[in-house]
Amino acid sequence: MLHASAQIASPINPVPNLGSALAASVNRALEFFQVGVWPWFGTSDAMDHLMPWGRGTLTTRPSPPSCDMEPPNEPVSTRELPFYHLPVLMQEVLDMLQPAPGKLIFDGTLGGGGHTEALLQKGAHVVAMDQDDAALSYARERLKPYADRLCVMKGNFRDFAATLGEAGVTGLDGMLIDIGVSSHHLDAAERGFSFAKEGPLDMRMNTSAGFTAADIVNTYSQEEIERILRDNAEEPQARRIARAIVHDREKQPFTTTLQLAEMIARICPQHGKKKHPATLTFQALRCEVNQEYEALREFLKAAPQWLKPGGRLVVISFHSIEDRIVKQAFQHQSAPFIDRPEWPEARQNPDCTLRLLTRKPVEAGEIELALNPRARSARLRAAERLPQ
Ligand SMILES: C[S@@+](CC[C@H](N)C(=O)[O-])C[C@H]1O[C@@H](n2cnc3c(N)ncnc32)[C@H](O)[C@@H]1O
Repeated sequence: MLHASAQIASPINPVPNLGSALAASVNRALEFFQVGVWPWFGTSDAMDHLMPWGRGTLTTRPSPPSCDMEPPNEPVSTRELPFYHLPVLMQEVLDMLQPAPGKLIFDGTLGGGGHTEALLQKGAHVVAMDQDDAALSYARERLKPYADRLCVMKGNFRDFAATLGEAGVTGLDGMLIDIGVSSHHLDAAERGFSFAKEGPLDMRMNTSAGFTAADIVNTYSQEEIERILRDNAEEPQARRIARAIVHDREKQPFTTTLQLAEMIARICPQHGKKKHPATLTFQALRCEVNQEYEALREFLKAAPQWLKPGGRLVVISFHSIEDRIVKQAFQHQSAPFIDRPEWPEARQNPDCTLRLLTRKPVEAGEIELALNPRARSARLRAAERLPQ
């Protein structure tokens, strides 16, 4: 994984003289690289639950923000923050959301603040949310120079409508969710997301709520565990792993990540270079702990109503089940008519509020993949609110 401070130490200049297509993608990647991972901070405080530009004012009377967002002229050392997360598909997000002065954009997965920072750099106002305290404090620090155009809130994006309503927001020009875990989640062993690092079997993004992965493996029935592994991650060995979990926990409850990962590796040995045998089990447990699919469905259902005509919705997902949920929601919300076998004829679709901007998911290009292998699984889909 690339380290932000390494990039700051050796600034990169665009490459003007490479052959056409390659030069374009190299320059694009370098732009992404510089916009996306240069953390710095200023002095003002980010605010909770209040629009710093005044409650509700942006939706009715866009205030002319001062958008001359050159990096503050400070020594590099004072701008450094530890590496948190490298945002994926940065240029594609900017192309879709077209951030500009006077626009109001919601980022439901603030994470390390990379996407939000790029939106702010283009002059937009941003309302950003994350359910993870570590992400919120990192991004608040990073984004201090933009405090007059940024509102940061703790919350689950499944509840965004209530939260934005309370904050006085009535319409958005863009919405982004970049779902799943951040690199920080996987790197921080104490969060329990990684099967490669010893830590408590936790996996909660919001550590002040809900149940942990240990609660699931130690208390759920074998059938429930099997269902979670199958439905949440399409684990082909779901039954075998569920049976072994229930058998082993009789002797000793599961408390750590490696305890579970090593048990799975014992009963489902890895062949060749295939991914670790515990990969899908960890994905399935994480989705269950954080109710990720439910949150995604609820968000997708409510989001179009919050977009102004022409406003855009961008979703980045990281595996096929998530991408299918996004694809199906967008298909439904962009279909003028719906039909059912029991109906004599097709009917108008009352949920038709979107126009698709992507028929197929957008994936990372070669340059980005070379810079950030985690982008390998990223899939971006986007849609635009119809004029009404
Ligand atoms: C892939 S990271 C986002 C990275 C971010 N776009 C950036 O540029 O750094 C995903 C983030 O979304 C947060 N998250 C995931 N599901 C969430 C949900 N339902 N509600 C709020 N935050 C969520 C995670 O805590 C994590 O910080």
